Amino acid sequence: MSQFWRPGSERPRTRLIDDDEGGVLFVPAPPSSSSSSGFGHSSLERQRKRLPVYKHRDAVLYLVEHHSTTIVVGETGSGKTTQIPQYLKEAGWAEGGRVIACTQPRRLAVQSVAARVAEEMGVKLGEEVGYTIRFEDVTNPGVTMIKFLTDGVLVREMMDDPLLTKYSIIMVDEAHERSLSTDMLLGLLKKIQRRRPDLRIIISSATIEAKSMSNFFNIRRKSLAQDAEDCAPNKQPAILSVEGKGYAVEIHYVEEPVSDYLQAAVDTVLLIHEKEPPGDILVFLTGQDDIDAAVKLLTGHGQQYGSHYSDLLVLPLYSGLPRGEQDLIFTPTPKGKRKVVISTNIAETSLTLEGVAYVVDSGFSKQRFYNPISDIENLVVVPISKASARQRAGRAGRVQPGKCYRLYTEEYYLKEMSPEGIPEMQRSNLVSCIIQLKALGIDNILGFDWIASPAPEAMIRALEILYSLGIIDEDAKLTSPTGFQVAEIPLDPMISKMILSANDFGCTEEIITIAAVLSVQSIWVSIRGVKKEFDEAKLRFAAAEGDHVTFLNIYRGFLQSGKSSQWCYKNFINYHAMKKVVDIKEQLHNLMRRLGIAVKSCDRDMQAVRKAIIAGFFAHACHLEEYSQNGMYKTIRSSQEVYIHPSSVLFRVNPKWVVYHSLVSTDKHYMRNVIAIDPSWLTEAAPHFYQLRQPNPIPY
Ligand code: CDP
Ligand code: MG
Repeated sequence: MSQFWRPGSERPRTRLIDDDEGGVLFVPAPPSSSSSSGFGHSSLERQRKRLPVYKHRDAVLYLVEHHSTTIVVGETGSGKTTQIPQYLKEAGWAEGGRVIACTQPRRLAVQSVAARVAEEMGVKLGEEVGYTIRFEDVTNPGVTMIKFLTDGVLVREMMDDPLLTKYSIIMVDEAHERSLSTDMLLGLLKKIQRRRPDLRIIISSATIEAKSMSNFFNIRRKSLAQDAEDCAPNKQPAILSVEGKGYAVEIHYVEEPVSDYLQAAVDTVLLIHEKEPPGDILVFLTGQDDIDAAVKLLTGHGQQYGSHYSDLLVLPLYSGLPRGEQDLIFTPTPKGKRKVVISTNIAETSLTLEGVAYVVDSGFSKQRFYNPISDIENLVVVPISKASARQRAGRAGRVQPGKCYRLYTEEYYLKEMSPEGIPEMQRSNLVSCIIQLKALGIDNILGFDWIASPAPEAMIRALEILYSLGIIDEDAKLTSPTGFQVAEIPLDPMISKMILSANDFGCTEEIITIAAVLSVQSIWVSIRGVKKEFDEAKLRFAAAEGDHVTFLNIYRGFLQSGKSSQWCYKNFINYHAMKKVVDIKEQLHNLMRRLGIAVKSCDRDMQAVRKAIIAGFFAHACHLEEYSQNGMYKTIRSSQEVYIHPSSVLFRVNPKWVVYHSLVSTDKHYMRNVIAIDPSWLTEAAPHFYQLRQPNPIPY
């Protein structure tokens, strides 16, 4: 191993925060002897007491009681997420029908921590402990005391309850991730706090950005005397550092840059398995594609080389993974086996895996990047930051001293890696964010209290798009009713606009089915090696109009089969995804009822369906390049080169004019979910956006 790897010169850090890091207040751990509630069985109870945060139980409760905002910094796995909400409940913060909220940027993390906390408390998930993610509410109002939810869902709840009155405490967890919704939420909570001095906020973070968070929430006191008189909590945020018990992690770098990180990761796993003592391996790759490929390579290896490699238990981990497979990740490794979890950066801080002793870090992650000029948002594979690299390495030292193998050189780490990542706010399409803020009555978006300001170009582009969709007017105010209705629908504004327009074409029934399908990851199961059968199955449903109409055929088939899993299996369709589609559709039905929109079917009039799609997606229109041999299209808006994705039923069909739902970029920009259109429909749907210059529409 030593020929390939070189140990790093920097010693690993075991502490995340220094006592004099400049926080407003630092509370040393008091010797705690406090008892927690008697719930849960005893082994879980013992585990709870062993967590680093347990020593700080009294400090957490003291600070929360006396400060409006408390910032808790502590390594992943120290017990912040699972324990603090329980301490708060035990201390009475959920009495009198009040609820303790804990937000997460990721849905998978919401489900997983809620399940864990319910187990620790010995209650059924969905009763005292529940969770809410988009289209899935597992809570029991009046009974649920601790509620885990995505930060996006909490922002949405403000539309009905602007001061979030049912919550006594809101814990904004994983704040270091700086997701778009976390940043919005922090700005909004700061506003709410002014009106609700009783509300307590906890910001918890795995890395030391505590100071900037603290400055953000630091409201200068009027005078000490006045505060005492009001009996108001101290408005200066408190910072608490929860020391981890992390063990030392030895860092190894590659001698030479690797050209193929996927293959290098697989080779490294095999090397570790051959040379190193027992301990699970956590591999950081970027997304479902490369994770599935690595799983396949490693399991293939097991079959090929016999018993030694069959000791490897290889598991993928990414959001969108079915529940059963998620649970395997957290099940203790069977004796004599070595677990290899191949993950996106979800395992960087949101989830803790026990038993990991080796980390393999590809040095990459997938991130959203939005280009306001081309109006294209892409998930791209980008190098991670030093902060992420450190977090990843830290995963190896939870239970014993560990090793981290970085698939990049030390020189690269020291000289080229940026210290911190860019907040999502500064690399995202802001359309949804702006609608939500406007719906909450915040019209001056630029003047909003951002923790980091978004790019003005992205802001201007978003306003332009919203105006073209008729969601805001000339004064940048939400239009009535369209703008307000769009804000009510928890979907991408283009989809929401498509749904609302379907009413004019009498095809709301079909369009909400399409919207539901577009909201799940993919309804196909692609199994490698049976491509021919898979393509044939697809052809059975393929519609000449394109993918959206194909979805309608599949949905109809699924219902006719009596929602049969057998039928799905036969047709290479993901049964769980289809059940989810049925469920989301039902919720969209209820939403339509609430908005007073009748859900009508256009039967087989697919022109109506396509016109409704265009009403939302006219900006995504493309034209086939006339002399293109290889199916090259150009977007009408920005003349960007794009191609139909091979997964589309229109791949190789190449109609002259199309509208796409989204783009994915690998070597080229690929359009996913494509529908053929008549160009005159574009000028009909958006005369303010396109003008007809014979024979084709061009954008203004
Ligand atoms: O939030 P933080 O990273 O500080 O820690 P946590 O998520 O509260 O995890 C505390 C402990 O609970 C970890 O040691 C995990 O092993 C355990 N846990 C678990 O076993 N299953 C889960 N789904 C979540 C946490
Ligand atoms: Mg956590």
